[in-house]
Amino acid sequence: MEKTRAVITGVNGWVPDYVLTNKELETMVETSDEWITTRTGIKERRILKGENKGTSDIGANAIKGLLEKTNTDPEDIDLIICATVTPDMPFPSCANMIAHKVGAKNSYSFDISAACSGFIYALTIGSQFIETGMHKKVIVVGADKMSSIVNYEDRTTCIIFGDGGGAVMLEPTTEEVGVMDSLHHSDGSGSPYLHIKAGGSLKPASEETVRAKEHYAYQEGATVFKFAVTNMAEVSAQIMAKNNLTGEDISWLVPHQANKRIIDATANRMNVGPEKVMINIEKYGNTTAGTIPLCLSDYESQLKKGDNIILAAFGGGFTWGSVYLKWGYDPK
Ligand code: UT7
Repeated sequence: MEKTRAVITGVNGWVPDYVLTNKELETMVETSDEWITTRTGIKERRILKGENKGTSDIGANAIKGLLEKTNTDPEDIDLIICATVTPDMPFPSCANMIAHKVGAKNSYSFDISAACSGFIYALTIGSQFIETGMHKKVIVVGADKMSSIVNYEDRTTCIIFGDGGGAVMLEPTTEEVGVMDSLHHSDGSGSPYLHIKAGGSLKPASEETVRAKEHYAYQEGATVFKFAVTNMAEVSAQIMAKNNLTGEDISWLVPHQANKRIIDATANRMNVGPEKVMINIEKYGNTTAGTIPLCLSDYESQLKKGDNIILAAFGGGFTWGSVYLKWGYDPK
């Protein structure tokens, strides 16, 4: 019997209009455009401004564009999975809000919390529903409004993060394209190095937690950097070996955009030249679950059917992983 795979049949990214440049950050904290550029590769990031705007607006805008591009009726969507660490509220899930905003009346929906690895986790999960034959149209969206959890007085985090997201449509195929393989990991012993201290069940919000600024993202950058460099490179090399792929077979590496130096180390380990690495960190910074679909969207016009693509991510948890996919369509 022919194997059914999940193939990406469309992608669309969305970022808010407001551009927060390194120059503007120089006026907010003690930093410099030169430091940020050389240490991270980031020049600017987008910020979602305005009252009553949350991550669901980012996700919904990404999906509205995706529905248009793929000529899909929202009522034909079976399932929406949203990867995010900045849902509009602790519950209901951000995916529930998004489904409502895009008119996906026949869809159910849920969130995945895996920080910067969220999109690739969700992609693997969504693919299973297609492979089993349970669903015909699944949307996976990665979106984060990082500005809602960033302390703009903390120069070690505020220079890194931005707001944005992207969505892909998954549909069944029996051709030799689509999501071919996945490798995922998590290790909760990494939580002390990247987390939000309060606002969860362990330490509920109080006047004290607000005063102590414990509702912002906390990161020990150098430690996370060390783990990210090693693990993102290692898992990417592992998925290549498992599928008998060499650097030459790879058309594109799509790395989580956390730091240009982590991206370069991963590409080196995979033996993949810089011309095959998707990078847009200079424009958007680290949008957490948004980085990988935003890259796919920015590079969509250069992707060809059958291209071998490795997605790789590392993030809070720790979580990390890699997905091997064969691109499903030529530029439209
Ligand atoms: O996406 C989820 C996973 N996250 C990551 O993968 C992020 C991984 N970590 C990183 O990308 C990097 O660690 C950072 C970009 C966050 C920081 O870069 P670093 O090269 O690791 O810097 P550092 O934290 O070791 O700090 C070096 C110096 C320190 O000064 P001293 O102690 O050497 O005098 C910092 O205080 O740079 C200082 N510094 C800054 N200087 C100017 C830290 N932040 C800044 C800043 N501007 N914004």
